[in-house]
Amino acid sequence: MQHFPELNRGKCKTYVVACERTGKALLIDPLRENISRYLAFLAYGRLKLDALVDTHTHADHPTGSFQLHALTGARLIMHRRAPVPTVTEHVEQGDTIRIGETCLTVLYTPGHTPDSISLHAEDRVFTGDVLLIGGTGRADFAGGDAGQQYDAITQQLFTLPDETLVFPAHDYRGNTQSTIGHEKRHNPRIAGRTREEYIALMASLNFPMPEKIQEVLQPNQSAIDDDKARFPDLTELNRVRQLTAHDVSNQLSTQNPPLVLDVREPNEYIGELGHVAGSLLIPLRELSSRAAELEPHRGRPIIAVCRSGVRSTTAAAMLYGLGYERVYNLKDGMIDWNDRGLPVEH
Ligand SMILES: [Fe+2]
Repeated sequence: MQHFPELNRGKCKTYVVACERTGKALLIDPLRENISRYLAFLAYGRLKLDALVDTHTHADHPTGSFQLHALTGARLIMHRRAPVPTVTEHVEQGDTIRIGETCLTVLYTPGHTPDSISLHAEDRVFTGDVLLIGGTGRADFAGGDAGQQYDAITQQLFTLPDETLVFPAHDYRGNTQSTIGHEKRHNPRIAGRTREEYIALMASLNFPMPEKIQEVLQPNQSAIDDDKARFPDLTELNRVRQLTAHDVSNQLSTQNPPLVLDVREPNEYIGELGHVAGSLLIPLRELSSRAAELEPHRGRPIIAVCRSGVRSTTAAAMLYGLGYERVYNLKDGMIDWNDRGLPVEH
């Protein structure tokens, strides 16, 4: 395996790993602003871009993965809980990502986000924003969970050999690498802390929300990258009432069932997760222009549905804005619906 020096030389880290024999390369967490730099780097090194991994849905910068995937046809790999529809391969704990003859093992390390993964290859681990050098990623974004993060770090990352090199997705202090052993002993957030102490510490940090977080997050979650697109703001999103798969399933078996509005892409609707029988498909990207199709259903409650419950929360907030009052969201989306063995059509 070849592992090149980090490509951005800034606070956000993008790594490239390649197979020496085949020249196939993997880009980890590319930034949209640096796409031409990556393409030039790959061309100069005679590397062929085989795959892109976003270690999680980023809230602080637009991802470069969608455009690089569209430009090069490289596989776009993320955890199965990633909300975005353009992912071509979903991975889970223990899966292997093959780049030529190089293999990386996926560790599911949620907590910073529900879709956070780390990649372990040979003597090193790419930790995304779960474990940073002398820090940990914040756990206060929607779907973050400090307890899960503690478990992921202590039970997965800290069980790797002490000499394993650590490469995080961010660093704010000019560090380039660390080791598992060093972080285990010296990381000021987590070393020597119990799970409860860690949760209390993370709850006390009170970081300000990044500026323009929704303007970055929503295109990264939906792959809608249109200057004219107007996404709901955080207040509107927080208004959305969340229903569990169990609640939704119960409501569907009543005399006056709600309308299930599926906002995924058509290929997802008929894809592996299937869809709820009788649901109406209007992809999120078309919702504002096709809202008139909902008019005949005005009297019914509407339950918005997508893959992981993120795009549909956006859709539900948009429908409030259009004057629909009884709108709900299927929490954790069709992933959770399937995990609970509820019926689907394909
Ligand atoms: Fe992050």
